[in-house]
Amino acid sequence: CAAAGEGGSQKACHLPRKKRYASVGQKGITLWMTGLSGSGKSTIAKALEEELVLKHGKHVYRLDGDNIRTGLNRDLGFSASDRAESVRRVGELACLMNDAGTITIVSLVSPYREDRDIARRRHEEQGLKFMEVFMDVPLDVVQDRDPKGLYKKVAAGEIKGFTGVDAPYEPPLEPEILLPNYKMTIDECVAVFLQRLRAEGVLE
Ligand code: PPS
Repeated sequence: CAAAGEGGSQKACHLPRKKRYASVGQKGITLWMTGLSGSGKSTIAKALEEELVLKHGKHVYRLDGDNIRTGLNRDLGFSASDRAESVRRVGELACLMNDAGTITIVSLVSPYREDRDIARRRHEEQGLKFMEVFMDVPLDVVQDRDPKGLYKKVAAGEIKGFTGVDAPYEPPLEPEILLPNYKMTIDECVAVFLQRLRAEGVLE
């Protein structure tokens, strides 16, 4: 039960969280990946998901632009207020999935600190594990990578309000995980996550 915090209480909840986690055989956690477009959020999230599902038999779900902006958030664009609403909705969804026992990997640019902090607070209020992960890749590196050709379009004036160029990106001040992934292999990044998940008791 989301309202009752870790363990829940029989009175407030139909089912205490501890019992639900025990029934699914794992604990929930939200890994919130933030960073510029092209910083490798989706790539690392997919590699981590594969590792956790295929090698560790965990129940994992990724929430990212591909499955969120086409459905739940299809009414939202990229203004500051739309991004805030997008992050709020995904934060709430992550709380529910986490409460259900899913290892929930969010990979959104989520450029505003305040919006991410609200998601963190909502988790903390409910006793749900939350880790902010900063994909710390400088703008010149992502502009060079330009996997979707978007920075080229931005430079040509075809896209306005692009994060990191002419819209703000506010890096986390105290992320639980800081990944300068442009200096690391994908396997090294995944290993950092596995170690932290073990430390949190989410992984054996
Ligand atoms: S946000 O800021 O959290 O609402 O963004 P998100 O839902 O993660 O979507 C980011 C991806 O959408 C594409 N895109 C833009 N990104 C940033 N700014 C603007 N204006 C923009 N317009 C479209 C872009 O592909 C982002 O890329 P990835 O690489 O998926 O992060």
